Amino acid sequence: MRVPISVVVLAAGKGTRMRSNRPKVLQNLAGRPLLGHVLDTACRLRPDQIVVVQGHGGEQVRAAHQAYPVRWVEQPQQLGTGHAVACALPEVPDDHRVLVLYGDVPLIEPEGLQPLLDAEGVSLLTARVAEPQGYGRIVRDSSGQVAAIVEEKDATARQRAIDEINTGLLAAPADSLRRWMAQLSAENAQGEYYLTDAVTAARNEGMAVHAEPLADATEALGVNDLVQLTEVERHYQARCARRLLRAGLHLVVPERFTLRGTLNHGIDCQVDADCLFEGSVELGDNVTVGTGVVLRDAKVESGARIAPYSVIEDARVGPEAEVGPFAHLRPGSCLEEGARVGNFVEMKAATLGPGAKANHLSYVGDAEVGPRANLGAGTITCNYDGARKHRTRIGADAFIGSGSQLVAPVVIGDRATVGAGTTVTSEAPPDALTVGRCRARTIQGWQRPGLTPASPAPEDSEDKPAGGGAQE
Ligand code: UD1
Ligand code: MG
Repeated sequence: MRVPISVVVLAAGKGTRMRSNRPKVLQNLAGRPLLGHVLDTACRLRPDQIVVVQGHGGEQVRAAHQAYPVRWVEQPQQLGTGHAVACALPEVPDDHRVLVLYGDVPLIEPEGLQPLLDAEGVSLLTARVAEPQGYGRIVRDSSGQVAAIVEEKDATARQRAIDEINTGLLAAPADSLRRWMAQLSAENAQGEYYLTDAVTAARNEGMAVHAEPLADATEALGVNDLVQLTEVERHYQARCARRLLRAGLHLVVPERFTLRGTLNHGIDCQVDADCLFEGSVELGDNVTVGTGVVLRDAKVESGARIAPYSVIEDARVGPEAEVGPFAHLRPGSCLEEGARVGNFVEMKAATLGPGAKANHLSYVGDAEVGPRANLGAGTITCNYDGARKHRTRIGADAFIGSGSQLVAPVVIGDRATVGAGTTVTSEAPPDALTVGRCRARTIQGWQRPGLTPASPAPEDSEDKPAGGGAQE
């Protein structure tokens, strides 16, 4: 018969060494709190219950993890890991096996924990590491059995040289833990009740203590300060990158890749260095993403190309569309098939129809742009009157000359042409040229301060009344 499982997650500590006002378990790893990562792992083990011990910043910690099916218990004072487990035990029936996880050990995977659940008696997860400083050391007797766990601060010089460390993660029968936790003493260098003393207690009762080193010691990394947090982040990102590479996503420089969410992709996509993926991002087939691109909650469809340093959030880039370099697609932006947005173009709540273009220096907000329309350099949709937002509609094959302002609400008809430098305030009818522009005047012989006069000036000139004048 399967033994019922309670996972107890210790998350009450303040995290003094982080030197932050935030409770430690709310520090972010890959864009979300450490505790969330641990709770995800706990859920994947499908236990009968999860009990989280909270203390420092408890309200904040609970609020950030409301979506998880967990029981919260409070540890009013942080008297040590043993005391924290003791606070959780009233929630745990005697016949359960208890798995203890730490809110600050976030890289552990369910596969690494399964042996702890399958074993009987006390079962510890250990790791062999090059730099054991700060961790409890595993002391084995002459027969190789675990005799004790000694905390760094209580260890002799010889014990400190041991490179097998306590990950902190262990499993034991609930009734035994209850007995041992009631007997703990705080007579140690830190004046704390150590969970690790359960090992000595088990040995004293003649109970088996299993200790298996993790195959991948990086899973045991604990976060106590920012140095360790950034190391854990690096390992997390390296793990994501390896998984994506194996799944066929070509990350050109995998060590310069950041994922803070989920990334789904098709085949033959290529992502250059220093890209950041946040939230939920989807790439179709044959998508290329240039260096320094930020994609947040975005869908980029097959054959689309995102040039360097573009920022795309809550937006859709259709098939074969092109974005950037240096473009900003804000929420609600959509490029239909083959549409193109070039450098220094900002879009918001706007759709570019199939093949439409806004290639240079434009703002396109609250707008629908028809198929194949061309927005010249510096076209601005004036969507905001100080109180409300208004929409701009641009028809199919419309042609907007450079430097035009479209004062919304405004409609530009199909195949309409708007002359460069025009301010359109209500409508530009279909199949016609709409142009509004002051004629330029030339003052001959005018002397610009600081400029030496040149040879005689040519005849007076006036600019030509324009046609489109958009830029390709
Ligand atoms: C602990 C272990 C050490 C192990 C290391 C692994 C003990 C005595 N030591 O040391 O052997 O190598 O983890 O990372 O167990 N917590 C509470 N209440 C408390 C104290 C701690 O909930 O009163 C929580 C913390 O929030 C944290 C976890 O328990 O999530 C570990 O506490 P921490 O103070 O970081 O223990 P370490 O000194 O790292
Ligand atoms: Mg710790």
